Amino acid sequence: MAQLWGGRFTKSTDQMVYDFNASISFDKKLFEQDVRGSRAHVKMLAAVGVITEGERDEILKGLDSIETDVNAGTLEITSEYEDIHSFVEANLIDRIGDAGKKLHTGRSRNDQVALDMKLYTREQVVATADALKHLLTTIVGIMEENTSTIMPGFTHLQKAQPITVAHHMGAYFEMFKRDIVRLSNIKASMWSCPLGSGALAGTTYPLDRYMTADLLDFAGPTANSMDGVSDRDYLIEFLSALSIIQMHLSRFSEEIIIWNSNEYRYVEIDDAYSTGSSIMPQKKNPDIAELVRGKTGRVYGSLMSLLTTMKGIPLAYNKDMQEDKELAFDAMKTVQDCIILFDGMLSTIKFNKENMAKSARNGFTNATDAADYLVNHGVPFRDAHGIIGQVVLYCIDKGIAIDDMSLSELKAISPVFEEDIYNAISMETCVNTRLTVGAPGRDAMLEEISACKEFLDSIPELFEN
Ligand code: ARG
Repeated sequence: MAQLWGGRFTKSTDQMVYDFNASISFDKKLFEQDVRGSRAHVKMLAAVGVITEGERDEILKGLDSIETDVNAGTLEITSEYEDIHSFVEANLIDRIGDAGKKLHTGRSRNDQVALDMKLYTREQVVATADALKHLLTTIVGIMEENTSTIMPGFTHLQKAQPITVAHHMGAYFEMFKRDIVRLSNIKASMWSCPLGSGALAGTTYPLDRYMTADLLDFAGPTANSMDGVSDRDYLIEFLSALSIIQMHLSRFSEEIIIWNSNEYRYVEIDDAYSTGSSIMPQKKNPDIAELVRGKTGRVYGSLMSLLTTMKGIPLAYNKDMQEDKELAFDAMKTVQDCIILFDGMLSTIKFNKENMAKSARNGFTNATDAADYLVNHGVPFRDAHGIIGQVVLYCIDKGIAIDDMSLSELKAISPVFEEDIYNAISMETCVNTRLTVGAPGRDAMLEEISACKEFLDSIPELFEN
């Protein structure tokens, strides 16, 4: 009995250990980077005389054929291999025999995976910046069209002062602009190549690490081989940048959801980006904005997860580090998808200009300007504040806006009011006399928009190194 049970248990335990340890199901994403790193490595091995030029050419041809077949779908990356590195090497040996066995000379999977992950992350940093650039182009387009589209600006989600849609969009432009600058800094900090660090202590072969670094578009080799195999700081920085991007998208989503609500009706989300209810026929829900907001948690989770994985690891490589992949891959894809979908939603959204203007007018957003009018006519600000307080009370009582009061009603509260008060507190005046740098006034906005466009043009330079 025991033997029967024992036999079965041992077998199934072995399988479980294998599955638990294997990473092929997720590191197959690194196939291209793994092949690219191998090409650089064998070119360098031949250049320093560790393998012959003939062997190099055989290996390069073998790698080409593996790549062609994987891309064509005729060679499948399956779970019979432990990880992507084993998959490539085993298939190479299968195809070209003994020369294939020399591919891994002077290399460890530790520096190999450190390189693959860095190459992959570097590509993702650039792809994320590209998606953000597209979103910024959409935002600046909306800004240009809406320098005169009045809406209420809020503090505490209470109507505060009139602004324009251009001004509101400009705030998000700045957030995503900072995100792009952050990404370019992360890319610049990833200048060193870990290949050639070996398992942890370099190798006894005369490897030319400058040559492999150069072939793989790095400025040079990592300075310390133990750090080379165990540094994941760049990935933590990227996950942090992704978390901040997602936080920005989530705030923006929250606003779109509020603006799209039945009570506000500032915007209407296009049918293509809305969904219906299975029971309530009247419903059109802002699901895409809600999902973007909802996915923020899992992106933050990837950052916390990797920080926690790394915090107790002694030098150099430890298997814990395999946990750097799944959640990071997920966060990279999630954020890019969110940027692209949000961009699509934003570029098709309709601004309900009349509702926004009416909402600004009905919310006493020009009360500060009415007080400023009195100040400009010699009333001390604190007294002016009190007078406009009375004006507002009067309006609330009558259910009207300040602009709806007759001059005699206004004069009954303060004799200082004259006919020019109406122009002084019109929404257009309130907005267009705010001309400090960064303010919503039309002339200030036009300056801001041209600075935004200059930034868009400068993005390629930011990613040159
Ligand atoms: N799958 C491993 C990882 O992702 C590759 C490195 C394996 N190295 C080792 N010494 N077992 O980290």
